[in-house]
Amino acid sequence: MDIIKNTKWSPGKVIELSSELEKPSPFYFGYDIEEKFVAQLEKYTPDKIFFFTEPHLFELYGKDIYKKLEEKFPCNLEFVPPGEKCKYFPVLEEMCENLIAKGASKKSILLAFGGGTVGNVVGLAAGLIYRGIRFVEIPTNMTSQTDSTLSNKQAVNGKTGKNHFGLYHAPIFIWADTKYLKSEPVCSRRSGIIEGIKNGFISDPSFLDYLEGVLNPENHFSDDEITELAYRIILSKLEILKRDPSEKHYGIVLEYGHTFGHAIEWLEEGKLSHGESVSFGMKIAAELAREMGFISHEDVERHYYLIENKLGFNRLLPEHITTEKLMDAMIADNKKTGEDLRFVILERIGQCCDPEGDYLITIDPQLVRRIITNFIERQNSKRSSQTSEMLGWKTKQSHSDVQVVTTRN
Ligand SMILES: NC(=O)c1ccc[n+]([C@@H]2O[C@H](COP(=O)([O-])OP(=O)(O)OC[C@H]3O[C@@H](n4cnc5c(N)ncnc54)[C@H](O)[C@@H]3O)[C@@H](O)[C@H]2O)c1
Repeated sequence: MDIIKNTKWSPGKVIELSSELEKPSPFYFGYDIEEKFVAQLEKYTPDKIFFFTEPHLFELYGKDIYKKLEEKFPCNLEFVPPGEKCKYFPVLEEMCENLIAKGASKKSILLAFGGGTVGNVVGLAAGLIYRGIRFVEIPTNMTSQTDSTLSNKQAVNGKTGKNHFGLYHAPIFIWADTKYLKSEPVCSRRSGIIEGIKNGFISDPSFLDYLEGVLNPENHFSDDEITELAYRIILSKLEILKRDPSEKHYGIVLEYGHTFGHAIEWLEEGKLSHGESVSFGMKIAAELAREMGFISHEDVERHYYLIENKLGFNRLLPEHITTEKLMDAMIADNKKTGEDLRFVILERIGQCCDPEGDYLITIDPQLVRRIITNFIERQNSKRSSQTSEMLGWKTKQSHSDVQVVTTRN
């Protein structure tokens, strides 16, 4: 595998990596590499291309690439509902029936052009039709380029939780062009970068040093910087996948902060992104590790510094989220494993605890409840002081307004 750091990212230069999974896929990466995509796809001699995307992504970038595809293959353009709304059974069912009606065959290729949601639902449809047809992912944002495409997990959401219905299905290749990252909204970009910060905490302290150097809360990056950042985050995940291509043993460490994060995301019903929810989850998991005597106060502070000061995820946990709601949501989510409350916990920065042989640690619910309560109390006291500051500022303002009026009179 071609692993080079501090690469000069000239437009058009393509680097070939591998997804490093049990069923690995070639992963092509670079800046402004669209020109070479069609030639790559031609190698697979598809009878038909079904191009799936969101309408705004088609307007932004999709139509150029679609036009080039149309010159070479019979093509069908298919729009999916934006964001998480596409990850539901009715959308999946319509998608699958539509594909059959429009003549999709085992020689066809489905193309997922968009973020993680588009990739997930198209990947699942591809896995189901005729027990599996081919698909290609063109990820267009930070999360999909550095995280979701580096996993063969395809899924839709159920009525009681995320990703409840799915399967493993590998794309024939992934084509990640960082040109698309430029238009990504800041919050969505932060949601992708947070997984990179997570990878540093669970496996590579030197990666955290790099992130501390390059991240800025405004998320301003040159084309070269954003490409290098995405590349480094990809490498940080590949290093973990290399140790566990099945994602069933050591790979579980990638779930750091996610048990709390998934529950927060679920309680927020889509108002908080996956990444921002995980950012709260990582802070709570760090507090838990400190309470258990594994990591220091400074290590916990490093979580807050990177997440809030450097990445800019500094909003407070929504007020309606209580300890009980969070505990109930986590227990409901755990139906998947049918187990007690088990967490990925840091032993030190760059290393996760492994007392039970599977990188998860069973923790007494009373301790978890106490840590969550303390976290929520601190969030609420920050909220009160922010409110008092705001009120003080407004009072000052209104006093000065009165003075102005008085002076005029
Ligand atoms: N399979 C896995 O291992 C895995 C890993 C991570 C995430 N996921 C899944 O991925 C989903 C989250 O992915 P996501 O954050 O990409 O969500 P998403 O697909 O909803 O994308 C987020 C937003 O970014 C927009 N967007 C995408 N590219 C853009 C661009 N170039 N310019 C402007 N806007 C752009 C989308 O329109 C959307 O509004 C979740 O459903 C999650 O479960 C799966």
